[in-house]
Amino acid sequence: LPLLPRDALGRPLHDLRLSVIEACNFRCGYCMPADRVPDDYGLDAAARLSFDEIETLVRGFVRVGVRKLRITGGEPLLRRGLPALIARLAEIPGLEDLALTTNGSLLARHARALRAAGLRRLTISLDALDPALFRQLSGGRGEVAEVFAGIAAAEDAGFGPIKFNCVVQRGINDHEAPALAAHFRGSGHVVRFIEYMDVGTCNGWDRSRVVPSAELRGRIHARWPLRCLPPRYPGEVAERHAYVDGAGELGFVSSVTAPFCGGCHRARVAADGTLYTCLFAAAGAPLRPRLRLGEAGLAEHLARLWARRADRYSEQRGSTRAPGRRVEMFLVGG
Ligand code: GTP
Ligand code: 5AD
Ligand code: SF4
Ligand code: SF4
Repeated sequence: LPLLPRDALGRPLHDLRLSVIEACNFRCGYCMPADRVPDDYGLDAAARLSFDEIETLVRGFVRVGVRKLRITGGEPLLRRGLPALIARLAEIPGLEDLALTTNGSLLARHARALRAAGLRRLTISLDALDPALFRQLSGGRGEVAEVFAGIAAAEDAGFGPIKFNCVVQRGINDHEAPALAAHFRGSGHVVRFIEYMDVGTCNGWDRSRVVPSAELRGRIHARWPLRCLPPRYPGEVAERHAYVDGAGELGFVSSVTAPFCGGCHRARVAADGTLYTCLFAAAGAPLRPRLRLGEAGLAEHLARLWARRADRYSEQRGSTRAPGRRVEMFLVGG
């Protein structure tokens, strides 16, 4: 069995996106709308992988080629003791990159401990600067001032450059995009505008609400000229652009208008240990029972599963009927 498996389309396994909790304190309409997901939504703690299980899991993935780990949720800072987990994962030989995606609301409290634990990179979701719009987009739960307190704490703790993810929805927050770009120009941080995707089954996705990256880029370019930058690594999700005047960098994630399945080397694992080989997968494979085999046994199992993978949902969108079942975004963290 190859230790560095290729899937059915020749793609290696390079990144693991690991959710540590399915719960979230926000209810963003594109992910976890409040009218579809109950306020107290969440597994009981015993249904989540323990830190011991997670460490074994990650070590198994490293054996089959994973070099990059992103911790996600739900909202990962809701997982109790997260810095202790980060510290264990940061020690794993072979992992070259450890990052975390958060909504930022609890970051002021945790930034220092996360940094001390060995976290190197942060991505913060930020869909608007305007407090009322931000509150509305978070399902009435979030305050943008808390996120800015979190950003300040992260900067103080030594994080940077930080990436900011803005999911753009036409007529809802697309008018805020230039303000977001303006705010972070010259800061050293990087804003990425993400096309609204049809993930999960509860966001009521509608193509007319997608703003194609090319259109948004045009709007920003008209104000602050941009030039294209080459990808930083093969299969990079965001297309990079630099301000011609030297004020830094922007990114666009165009999963709807310019799918990037051809280079997709990402696996996702939900907090309960279910493996999904695509963000749009109808079903996953439970890994928890396999963890008892230890990291070597798990690695063999993963190599077999990866070799069978043929997912390329974003490239097929529209041409095939969308599967009725699809994993929810809050289970796999994007
Ligand atoms: P780095 O380059 O490591 O900083 O991270 P990244 O570009 O993977 O960024 P991040 O994890 O913040 O993802 C940015 C957006 O792209 C999120 O909305 C993700 O849901 C989306 N995304 C990431 N990976 C995939 C993917 O494999 N398929 C699709 N369709 N979307 C993805
Ligand atoms: N479309 C695009 N991006 C989404 N995210 C969550 N749901 C969607 C969606 N429907 C993004 C979040 C976060 C990242 C993990 O995924 O904004 O930045
Ligand atoms: Fe929570 Fe992130 Fe989903 Fe918003 S996008 S509901 S912050 S998990
Ligand atoms: Fe990868 Fe699936 Fe996204 Fe395509 S749609 S890039 S296969 S996760």
